[in-house]
Amino acid sequence: MKNKDLLKENNVVMWEEEKIASFQKTLLDWYDSSKRDLPWRQTSNPYYIWVSEIMLQQTQVDTVIPYYNRFITTLPTVQDLADADEDTLLKLWEGLGYYSRVRNMKSAAIQIVAEHNGVFPKDYKDIIKLKGIGPYTAGAVSSIAFNQPQPAVDGNVMRVLSRLFELKIDIGKASSRKVFEEMIRHLIDQERPGDFNQALMDLGATICTPKNYKPETSPIKEFNASYLNETWKQYPVKKTKKSSREEHYIVVAAKNSKGEYIFEKRGAKGVLSGMLTFIMINRDSLDEGNWKSFEGKVDELGQQHHKQLQALLKKEYGVTVKLNDEIKGKLTHVFSHLKWQLTVIEADIIDESMLMPQVQLIHPEQFEKTAFPVPTQKTWELLKTLTLF
Ligand code: ADE
Repeated sequence: MKNKDLLKENNVVMWEEEKIASFQKTLLDWYDSSKRDLPWRQTSNPYYIWVSEIMLQQTQVDTVIPYYNRFITTLPTVQDLADADEDTLLKLWEGLGYYSRVRNMKSAAIQIVAEHNGVFPKDYKDIIKLKGIGPYTAGAVSSIAFNQPQPAVDGNVMRVLSRLFELKIDIGKASSRKVFEEMIRHLIDQERPGDFNQALMDLGATICTPKNYKPETSPIKEFNASYLNETWKQYPVKKTKKSSREEHYIVVAAKNSKGEYIFEKRGAKGVLSGMLTFIMINRDSLDEGNWKSFEGKVDELGQQHHKQLQALLKKEYGVTVKLNDEIKGKLTHVFSHLKWQLTVIEADIIDESMLMPQVQLIHPEQFEKTAFPVPTQKTWELLKTLTLF
Protein backbone atom coordinates (compact mmCIF):
# COMPACT_ATOMS: atom_id res chain seq x y z
CA MET A 1 0.00 0.00 0.00
CA LYS A 2 1.36 3.38 -0.95
CA ASN A 3 1.47 6.18 1.57
CA LYS A 4 1.86 9.57 -0.08
CA ASP A 5 1.67 11.35 3.30
CA LEU A 6 4.93 9.82 4.45
CA LEU A 7 6.65 11.27 1.39
CA LYS A 8 5.01 14.63 1.89
CA GLU A 9 5.99 14.80 5.55
CA ASN A 10 9.58 14.26 4.49
CA ASN A 11 9.50 16.75 1.61
CA VAL A 12 9.95 14.07 -1.03
CA VAL A 13 8.50 15.09 -4.36
CA MET A 14 7.85 11.86 -6.26
CA TRP A 15 8.24 11.81 -10.04
CA GLU A 16 5.39 11.60 -12.52
CA GLU A 17 4.46 8.18 -13.93
CA GLU A 18 6.16 8.88 -17.23
CA LYS A 19 9.47 9.75 -15.64
CA ILE A 20 9.25 6.68 -13.41
CA ALA A 21 8.71 4.43 -16.46
CA SER A 22 11.64 5.99 -18.24
CA PHE A 23 13.82 5.59 -15.15
CA GLN A 24 12.89 1.91 -14.81
CA LYS A 25 13.80 1.25 -18.43
CA THR A 26 17.13 3.06 -18.22
CA LEU A 27 18.09 1.34 -14.98
CA LEU A 28 17.07 -2.15 -16.16
CA ASP A 29 18.78 -1.73 -19.55
CA TRP A 30 21.96 -0.88 -17.69
CA TYR A 31 21.47 -3.87 -15.38
CA ASP A 32 20.95 -6.21 -18.35
CA SER A 33 24.17 -5.11 -19.97
CA SER A 34 26.35 -4.57 -16.87
CA LYS A 35 25.10 -6.64 -13.97
CA ARG A 36 27.64 -8.46 -11.90
CA ASP A 37 27.84 -12.16 -12.52
CA LEU A 38 27.13 -13.54 -9.05
CA PRO A 39 26.37 -17.17 -8.17
CA TRP A 40 23.07 -16.38 -6.43
CA ARG A 41 21.89 -14.79 -9.64
CA GLN A 42 21.94 -18.18 -11.37
CA THR A 43 19.05 -19.44 -9.26
CA SER A 44 15.54 -18.60 -8.17
CA ASN A 45 15.68 -20.99 -5.22
CA PRO A 46 14.49 -18.83 -2.30
CA TYR A 47 16.63 -20.77 0.18
CA TYR A 48 19.82 -19.99 -1.75
CA ILE A 49 18.81 -16.36 -2.20
CA TRP A 50 18.10 -16.09 1.51
CA VAL A 51 21.54 -17.54 2.33
CA SER A 52 23.21 -15.00 0.03
CA GLU A 53 21.26 -12.07 1.43
CA ILE A 54 22.11 -12.96 5.03
CA MET A 55 25.80 -13.33 4.15
CA LEU A 56 25.79 -10.04 2.24
CA GLN A 57 24.69 -8.13 5.31
CA GLN A 58 27.89 -6.59 6.68
CA THR A 59 30.11 -8.47 4.22
CA GLN A 60 31.45 -7.59 0.74
CA VAL A 61 30.34 -9.52 -2.34
CA ASP A 62 33.86 -10.82 -3.14
CA THR A 63 34.25 -12.26 0.34
CA VAL A 64 30.80 -13.83 0.31
CA ILE A 65 31.11 -15.84 -2.95
CA PRO A 66 33.24 -18.76 -1.65
CA TYR A 67 31.26 -18.90 1.62
CA TYR A 68 28.00 -19.01 -0.32
CA ASN A 69 29.17 -21.81 -2.61
CA ARG A 70 30.43 -23.88 0.28
CA PHE A 71 27.28 -23.34 2.33
CA ILE A 72 24.78 -24.42 -0.32
CA THR A 73 26.96 -27.36 -1.34
CA THR A 74 27.23 -28.57 2.27
CA LEU A 75 23.61 -27.81 3.18
CA PRO A 76 21.66 -27.93 -0.09
CA THR A 77 18.16 -27.79 1.43
CA VAL A 78 16.27 -26.04 4.21
CA GLN A 79 15.93 -29.45 5.89
CA ASP A 80 19.74 -29.87 5.85
CA LEU A 81 20.14 -26.50 7.53
CA ALA A 82 17.49 -27.35 10.12
CA ASP A 83 19.39 -30.59 10.91
CA ALA A 84 22.91 -29.10 10.87
CA ASP A 85 24.90 -29.19 14.10
CA GLU A 86 26.36 -26.03 15.62
CA ASP A 87 29.98 -26.93 14.84
CA THR A 88 29.24 -27.42 11.14
CA LEU A 89 27.41 -24.11 10.99
CA LEU A 90 30.11 -22.18 12.79
CA LYS A 91 32.77 -23.70 10.57
CA LEU A 92 30.80 -22.72 7.45
CA TRP A 93 30.49 -19.20 8.84
CA GLU A 94 34.01 -18.92 10.25
CA GLY A 95 35.48 -15.51 9.41
CA LEU A 96 32.20 -13.90 8.29
CA GLY A 97 31.49 -12.60 11.80
CA TYR A 98 28.13 -11.83 13.39
CA TYR A 99 27.55 -15.48 14.17
CA SER A 100 24.04 -14.91 15.44
CA ARG A 101 23.11 -14.60 11.77
CA VAL A 102 23.76 -18.27 11.11
CA ARG A 103 22.23 -19.41 14.38
CA ASN A 104 19.09 -17.48 13.51
CA MET A 105 19.09 -19.09 10.07
CA LYS A 106 19.03 -22.51 11.65
CA SER A 107 16.09 -21.46 13.87
CA ALA A 108 14.29 -20.10 10.81
CA ALA A 109 14.94 -23.35 8.92
CA ILE A 110 13.40 -25.31 11.80
CA GLN A 111 10.42 -22.93 11.64
CA ILE A 112 10.07 -23.53 7.88
CA VAL A 113 10.15 -27.30 8.40
CA ALA A 114 7.58 -27.11 11.22
CA GLU A 115 5.22 -24.53 9.80
CA HIS A 116 5.64 -24.77 6.02
CA ASN A 117 6.54 -28.41 5.45
CA GLY A 118 10.11 -27.47 4.63
CA VAL A 119 9.04 -25.29 1.70
CA PHE A 120 10.28 -21.70 1.86
CA PRO A 121 7.17 -19.48 2.24
CA LYS A 122 6.18 -17.23 -0.67
CA ASP A 123 4.34 -14.44 1.11
CA TYR A 124 6.16 -11.45 2.50
CA LYS A 125 4.09 -11.60 5.68
CA ASP A 126 5.21 -15.22 6.30
CA ILE A 127 8.82 -14.54 5.31
CA ILE A 128 9.17 -11.65 7.73
CA LYS A 129 7.98 -13.86 10.61
CA LEU A 130 11.08 -16.04 10.25
CA LYS A 131 13.80 -15.64 12.83
CA GLY A 132 16.53 -13.19 11.79
CA ILE A 133 14.59 -11.87 8.81
CA GLY A 134 13.75 -8.16 8.87
CA PRO A 135 12.23 -5.86 6.26
CA TYR A 136 15.38 -5.77 4.11
CA THR A 137 15.83 -9.54 3.81
CA ALA A 138 12.10 -10.21 3.46
CA GLY A 139 11.95 -7.62 0.66
CA ALA A 140 15.04 -8.99 -1.06
CA VAL A 141 13.90 -12.64 -0.98
CA SER A 142 10.30 -11.93 -1.97
CA SER A 143 11.31 -9.65 -4.85
CA ILE A 144 14.26 -11.71 -6.16
CA ALA A 145 12.91 -15.24 -5.66
CA PHE A 146 9.14 -14.62 -5.96
CA ASN A 147 8.97 -11.54 -8.18
CA GLN A 148 6.91 -9.56 -5.70
CA PRO A 149 7.17 -5.75 -5.83
CA GLN A 150 8.61 -5.31 -2.33
CA PRO A 151 11.32 -2.80 -1.43
CA ALA A 152 14.74 -4.05 -0.24
CA VAL A 153 16.42 -0.99 1.16
CA ASP A 154 20.04 -1.29 2.23
CA GLY A 155 22.74 1.38 2.57
CA ASN A 156 23.45 1.33 -1.17
CA VAL A 157 19.84 1.99 -2.06
CA MET A 158 19.57 4.82 0.45
CA ARG A 159 22.67 6.48 -0.99
CA VAL A 160 21.39 6.20 -4.56
CA LEU A 161 17.97 7.64 -3.72
CA SER A 162 19.41 10.42 -1.55
CA ARG A 163 21.46 11.65 -4.49
CA LEU A 164 18.72 11.17 -7.09
CA PHE A 165 16.18 13.18 -5.09
CA GLU A 166 18.50 15.47 -3.07
CA LEU A 167 17.04 14.08 0.14
CA LYS A 168 17.77 15.85 3.40
CA ILE A 169 16.87 12.71 5.38
CA ASP A 170 19.55 11.30 7.69
CA ILE A 171 20.32 7.82 6.35
CA GLY A 172 21.93 6.86 9.66
CA LYS A 173 18.60 7.09 11.49
CA ALA A 174 16.62 3.86 11.77
CA SER A 175 13.32 5.63 11.17
CA SER A 176 14.49 6.90 7.75
CA ARG A 177 14.25 3.45 6.18
CA LYS A 178 10.46 3.64 5.98
CA VAL A 179 10.66 6.75 3.81
CA PHE A 180 13.05 5.06 1.40
CA GLU A 181 10.85 1.96 1.30
CA GLU A 182 7.90 4.12 0.43
CA MET A 183 9.86 5.75 -2.40
CA ILE A 184 10.73 2.32 -3.76
CA ARG A 185 7.06 1.30 -3.70
CA HIS A 186 6.46 4.14 -6.15
CA LEU A 187 9.55 3.57 -8.25
CA ILE A 188 9.80 -0.23 -8.45
CA ASP A 189 9.24 -2.01 -11.76
CA GLN A 190 6.18 -4.23 -11.33
CA GLU A 191 7.35 -6.75 -13.93
CA ARG A 192 10.92 -7.13 -12.72
CA PRO A 193 11.01 -6.08 -9.05
CA GLY A 194 13.91 -8.36 -8.11
CA ASP A 195 16.07 -7.06 -10.94
CA PHE A 196 15.06 -3.50 -10.12
CA ASN A 197 16.17 -3.89 -6.49
CA GLN A 198 19.40 -5.61 -7.47
CA ALA A 199 20.12 -2.97 -10.12
CA LEU A 200 20.00 -0.29 -7.42
CA MET A 201 22.28 -2.40 -5.22
CA ASP A 202 24.77 -2.86 -8.07
CA LEU A 203 24.67 0.79 -8.94
CA GLY A 204 25.35 1.69 -5.31
CA ALA A 205 28.18 -0.82 -5.06
CA THR A 206 29.94 -0.01 -8.33
CA ILE A 207 29.14 3.54 -9.52
CA CYS A 208 27.16 5.47 -6.93
CA THR A 209 29.83 4.69 -4.34
CA PRO A 210 30.42 6.43 -0.98
CA LYS A 211 33.89 7.60 -2.05
CA ASN A 212 35.36 8.60 -5.43
CA TYR A 213 31.87 9.06 -6.80
CA LYS A 214 31.75 10.33 -10.39
CA PRO A 215 28.11 11.11 -11.13
CA GLU A 216 28.84 11.87 -14.78
CA THR A 217 29.63 8.18 -15.34
CA SER A 218 26.26 6.97 -14.04
CA PRO A 219 23.74 5.42 -16.45
CA ILE A 220 20.96 7.29 -14.65
CA LYS A 221 22.66 10.68 -14.43
CA GLU A 222 19.85 12.40 -16.35
CA PHE A 223 17.50 11.50 -13.44
CA ASN A 224 19.91 12.61 -10.78
CA ALA A 225 18.84 15.96 -9.32
CA SER A 226 22.03 16.32 -7.28
CA TYR A 227 24.14 15.84 -10.43
CA LEU A 228 22.05 18.25 -12.48
CA ASN A 229 22.14 20.84 -9.68
CA GLU A 230 25.77 20.13 -8.80
CA THR A 231 24.90 19.44 -5.17
CA TRP A 232 25.90 15.76 -5.12
CA LYS A 233 28.73 16.30 -2.65
CA GLN A 234 26.10 17.03 0.00
CA TYR A 235 24.40 13.63 -0.29
CA PRO A 236 23.63 11.32 1.36
CA VAL A 237 23.06 13.16 4.63
CA LYS A 238 24.55 11.15 7.46
CA LYS A 239 24.97 12.72 10.85
CA THR A 240 28.09 11.35 12.49
CA LYS A 241 27.42 8.43 14.73
CA LYS A 242 28.53 8.29 18.33
CA SER A 243 31.95 6.71 18.41
CA SER A 244 31.88 3.08 19.38
CA ARG A 245 32.60 1.79 22.86
CA GLU A 246 36.10 0.50 23.55
CA GLU A 247 37.04 -2.45 25.71
CA HIS A 248 40.58 -3.39 26.65
CA TYR A 249 41.57 -7.00 27.22
CA ILE A 250 44.68 -8.91 28.04
CA VAL A 251 44.63 -12.01 25.90
CA VAL A 252 46.50 -14.85 27.53
CA ALA A 253 47.70 -17.49 25.09
CA ALA A 254 48.47 -20.25 27.56
CA LYS A 255 50.06 -23.46 26.29
CA ASN A 256 50.66 -26.74 28.12
CA SER A 257 53.58 -29.16 27.76
CA LYS A 258 51.79 -30.98 24.92
CA GLY A 259 51.58 -27.75 22.95
CA GLU A 260 47.82 -27.41 23.48
CA TYR A 261 46.34 -23.96 23.99
CA ILE A 262 43.57 -23.11 26.37
CA PHE A 263 40.40 -21.62 24.92
CA GLU A 264 37.32 -20.20 26.48
CA LYS A 265 33.81 -20.74 25.14
CA ARG A 266 32.06 -17.41 25.49
CA GLY A 267 28.68 -17.17 27.21
CA ALA A 268 25.31 -17.19 25.47
CA LYS A 269 24.95 -13.39 25.53
CA GLY A 270 26.93 -10.56 23.96
CA VAL A 271 29.40 -10.44 21.09
CA LEU A 272 30.82 -13.73 19.77
CA SER A 273 28.42 -15.67 21.98
CA GLY A 274 29.30 -19.34 22.16
CA MET A 275 32.54 -18.83 20.20
CA LEU A 276 36.06 -19.83 21.22
CA THR A 277 38.62 -17.21 22.18
CA PHE A 278 41.93 -17.37 23.96
CA ILE A 279 41.48 -16.37 27.59
CA MET A 280 40.52 -12.72 27.71
CA ILE A 281 40.85 -10.69 30.88
CA ASN A 282 39.14 -7.35 30.88
CA ARG A 283 41.62 -4.70 31.90
CA ASP A 284 39.03 -3.26 34.27
CA SER A 285 39.14 -6.41 36.37
CA LEU A 286 42.76 -5.60 37.32
CA ASP A 287 43.83 -2.79 39.60
CA GLU A 288 43.84 0.56 37.90
CA GLY A 289 47.05 1.76 39.56
CA ASN A 290 49.91 0.47 37.50
CA TRP A 291 47.81 -0.30 34.55
CA LYS A 292 47.68 3.30 33.39
CA SER A 293 51.44 3.47 33.07
CA PHE A 294 51.46 0.20 31.16
CA GLU A 295 48.94 1.13 28.52
CA GLY A 296 50.40 1.66 25.10
CA LYS A 297 53.96 2.31 26.14
CA VAL A 298 55.64 -0.21 28.34
CA ASP A 299 56.21 -3.59 26.80
CA GLU A 300 56.43 -5.40 30.08
CA LEU A 301 53.81 -6.17 32.62
CA GLY A 302 54.58 -4.97 36.09
CA GLN A 303 55.13 -7.57 38.78
CA GLN A 304 51.88 -6.59 40.39
CA HIS A 305 49.90 -7.36 37.29
CA HIS A 306 51.64 -10.65 36.84
CA LYS A 307 50.45 -11.68 40.29
CA GLN A 308 46.94 -10.38 39.78
CA LEU A 309 46.63 -12.04 36.41
CA GLN A 310 47.91 -15.34 37.74
CA ALA A 311 45.45 -15.23 40.63
CA LEU A 312 42.56 -14.45 38.28
CA LEU A 313 43.48 -17.24 35.90
CA LYS A 314 43.54 -19.68 38.75
CA LYS A 315 40.27 -18.51 40.22
CA GLU A 316 38.23 -18.06 37.02
CA TYR A 317 39.74 -20.72 34.80
CA GLY A 318 41.35 -23.18 37.19
CA VAL A 319 44.74 -22.92 35.59
CA THR A 320 48.15 -22.09 37.05
CA VAL A 321 50.51 -20.41 34.60
CA LYS A 322 53.88 -18.82 34.21
CA LEU A 323 53.43 -15.62 32.23
CA ASN A 324 55.95 -14.48 29.68
CA ASP A 325 57.47 -11.09 30.55
CA GLU A 326 57.26 -9.77 27.04
CA ILE A 327 54.05 -8.69 25.43
CA LYS A 328 53.66 -10.54 22.18
CA GLY A 329 51.77 -7.72 20.51
CA LYS A 330 48.64 -5.62 20.31
CA LEU A 331 45.58 -6.01 18.14
CA THR A 332 42.41 -4.11 17.47
CA HIS A 333 39.16 -5.70 16.42
CA VAL A 334 36.21 -3.56 15.39
CA PHE A 335 32.60 -4.74 15.70
CA SER A 336 29.71 -2.55 14.59
CA HIS A 337 29.31 -0.74 17.94
CA LEU A 338 32.29 -1.94 19.86
CA LYS A 339 36.04 -1.95 19.56
CA TRP A 340 38.32 -4.45 21.27
CA GLN A 341 41.87 -3.42 22.12
CA LEU A 342 43.76 -6.64 22.73
CA THR A 343 47.15 -6.99 24.39
CA VAL A 344 48.46 -10.48 23.80
CA ILE A 345 50.82 -12.29 26.15
CA GLU A 346 52.01 -15.88 26.10
CA ALA A 347 52.06 -18.19 29.09
CA ASP A 348 53.08 -21.72 30.00
CA ILE A 349 50.60 -23.83 31.87
CA ILE A 350 52.06 -25.31 35.03
CA ASP A 351 48.97 -26.98 36.44
CA GLU A 352 45.75 -27.75 34.57
CA SER A 353 44.25 -30.30 36.94
CA MET A 354 41.43 -27.98 38.03
CA LEU A 355 40.24 -26.64 34.65
CA MET A 356 36.84 -24.97 34.69
CA PRO A 357 34.08 -26.27 32.42
CA GLN A 358 33.98 -23.25 30.07
CA VAL A 359 37.54 -23.88 28.91
CA GLN A 360 39.04 -26.43 26.57
CA LEU A 361 42.50 -27.39 25.41
CA ILE A 362 43.07 -27.54 21.66
CA HIS A 363 46.24 -28.44 19.80
CA PRO A 364 47.22 -26.27 16.78
CA GLU A 365 46.90 -29.38 14.59
CA GLN A 366 43.17 -29.25 15.33
CA PHE A 367 42.80 -25.54 14.52
CA GLU A 368 41.90 -26.20 10.87
CA LYS A 369 38.89 -28.19 11.98
CA THR A 370 37.80 -25.74 14.66
CA ALA A 371 35.61 -22.70 14.03
CA PHE A 372 37.34 -19.63 15.42
CA PRO A 373 36.00 -16.08 15.24
CA VAL A 374 38.19 -13.45 13.60
CA PRO A 375 39.75 -12.02 16.81
CA THR A 376 40.95 -15.53 17.71
CA GLN A 377 42.34 -16.02 14.21
CA LYS A 378 44.12 -12.68 14.35
CA THR A 379 45.61 -13.58 17.72
CA TRP A 380 46.86 -16.89 16.36
CA GLU A 381 48.43 -15.14 13.35
CA LEU A 382 50.22 -12.84 15.78
CA LEU A 383 51.40 -15.74 17.95
CA LYS A 384 52.86 -17.52 14.93
CA THR A 385 55.04 -14.56 14.02
CA LEU A 386 58.56 -14.68 15.36
CA THR A 387 59.73 -11.99 17.70
CA LEU A 388 63.08 -10.88 16.37
CA PHE A 389 64.95 -9.29 19.21
N1 ADE B 1 23.94 -6.92 -1.64
C1 ADE B 1 22.93 -7.48 -0.96
N2 ADE B 1 22.17 -8.24 -1.75
C2 ADE B 1 22.72 -8.19 -2.97
C3 ADE B 1 22.39 -8.78 -4.21
N3 ADE B 1 21.35 -9.57 -4.34
N4 ADE B 1 23.19 -8.48 -5.24
C4 ADE B 1 24.23 -7.68 -5.07
N5 ADE B 1 24.59 -7.09 -3.96
C5 ADE B 1 23.84 -7.34 -2.90
